[in-house]
Amino acid sequence: MSQENIHPIFDVTLSREEKEKQLGQRAIVLWMVGLSGSGKSTIAKGLEKKLHAEGFFTELLDGDNLRVGVNNNLGFSVEDRQENIRRATEVAKLFYNAGVITVCSFISPTKEIRKMAKEILGDAMVEVFINTPIEECEKRDVKGLYQKARAGEIKGFTGIDSPFEAPENPDVNVKTKDMSIEESVDILYNQIVDKIKR
Ligand code: ADX
Repeated sequence: MSQENIHPIFDVTLSREEKEKQLGQRAIVLWMVGLSGSGKSTIAKGLEKKLHAEGFFTELLDGDNLRVGVNNNLGFSVEDRQENIRRATEVAKLFYNAGVITVCSFISPTKEIRKMAKEILGDAMVEVFINTPIEECEKRDVKGLYQKARAGEIKGFTGIDSPFEAPENPDVNVKTKDMSIEESVDILYNQIVDKIKR
């Protein structure tokens, strides 16, 4: 669609810096990458709780949550996943520009998808790999989805018959396998706290 009659007012809105000052923090977008059942949302939830308790202002954006709202017309084809992440990234950018520490929990399965997110968010984006082997995710199978995928009841399930390309150089690598949720949250918190303090 042509954008020739669109006139954004980015230059006259209050700056992120002004909002960050009011909130007493620096904004970032923590982008949690990982398989279904890897612990992204659980760790994101734990991290948000800890940040909140420490006086930070946060928002949590979650794949399943956005898929019942802004992304409710999208499925799991390559194109739909790309659009799912594009919209999620743009939403995250709105929160970031409001000075909010934004925690995003999306499988984000391919390098291409993550490259697009990085292009939209730039240095604001901190890539966090919730690094849990697929065998472990499948063993946990909290939502029963791996079992359904193995039975052929879900087609194109990430890690089974749809690709998952692990990040090669994540900013933070959380290896959850032999760790408690609390340990994973603490590791992540300790690695990011200096970025968000004023
Ligand atoms: S992404 O691939 O587009 O980044 P997103 O994080 O939004 O995925 O959604 C993943 C969630 O959707 C999973 O945690 C799971 O609950 C659900 N889901 C349903 N079908 C699939 C599928 N085919 N592949 C992966 N996740 C699925």
